[in-house]
Amino acid sequence: MDEHRPLRTYGRIKARTLKPRQAGLMETLLPHLAVPEDGEIDLDALFSKPPPPCGAGAGGGGRSDPPPLPDIGAVDRPPSVAHARDTSPTRGEVVLEIGFGGGEHLVAQAIAQPDQRFIGVEPFINGVASCLRHIEESGAQNIRLHQGDARDVIARLPDASLDLCYILFPDPWPKARHHKRRLIQPAFLGELARAMKPGAELRFATDWANYAAWTLEHVLRDARFIWLAESASDWRTAWPGHVQTRYEQKQLGDCAPVWLRFQRSA
Ligand SMILES: C[S@@+](CC[C@H](N)C(=O)[O-])C[C@H]1O[C@@H](n2cnc3c(N)ncnc32)[C@H](O)[C@@H]1O
Repeated sequence: MDEHRPLRTYGRIKARTLKPRQAGLMETLLPHLAVPEDGEIDLDALFSKPPPPCGAGAGGGGRSDPPPLPDIGAVDRPPSVAHARDTSPTRGEVVLEIGFGGGEHLVAQAIAQPDQRFIGVEPFINGVASCLRHIEESGAQNIRLHQGDARDVIARLPDASLDLCYILFPDPWPKARHHKRRLIQPAFLGELARAMKPGAELRFATDWANYAAWTLEHVLRDARFIWLAESASDWRTAWPGHVQTRYEQKQLGDCAPVWLRFQRSA
């Protein structure tokens, strides 16, 4: 292993054995959606080819339904992610979700914003398999996935290529001796800032008070980020168009969710 490799920020990468249908999707659908493993990521090439038509039978095997997606019709569509002043989504904006868990949020956002291009990254294989089920069932065409560490993907994104990045309820690593495993670290933020367009947004949520404070402190230490909150309600309330995540529903933290929105300065 590379001695300079950053510490692992996630727990297990596999839990139970995949059901036949999920295993089938990992073999048949994932290769069509996968971010290439090496080299700089060419976003236009990545999204140029639509995935094969989704639907019954793509994965084979018996059906066992994943938890239903949130009611997308009920989701308030957020304003354009790049600039609050721009209210019509520009075709092709690139949205990254780091640690999408089971993919419910990722797929709901992709369905609600069909003109945007979504990249989801998640090391947990069962989560990726669950996300593939949601993609197949929703027919979303605008999602690409990487099963692995988001830092490996961000490092290969061109400069100023992201319009929005979601980090929702990242592993909290609440013990002080584990804080070094948190995703939010100076080197990570530096690479993310490089990959974000001026005016792009970073949306972070946690229900661990210490991680909220940690994130605020670390992000604001990097002069390329501006905290968008103007009043307490801005960090106490989810942004418009938020779709509840599975982890959020579990309320495992020690405080109510804290919602932090940062803008990449020009
Ligand atoms: C606590 S879970 C939250 C999942 C989801 N965002 C939700 O709110 O339901 C955090 C997720 O982040 C993933 N994760 C941790 N480190 C990561 C990394 N370096 N790159 C991508 N995903 C990561 C974990 O595997 C895990 O699924």
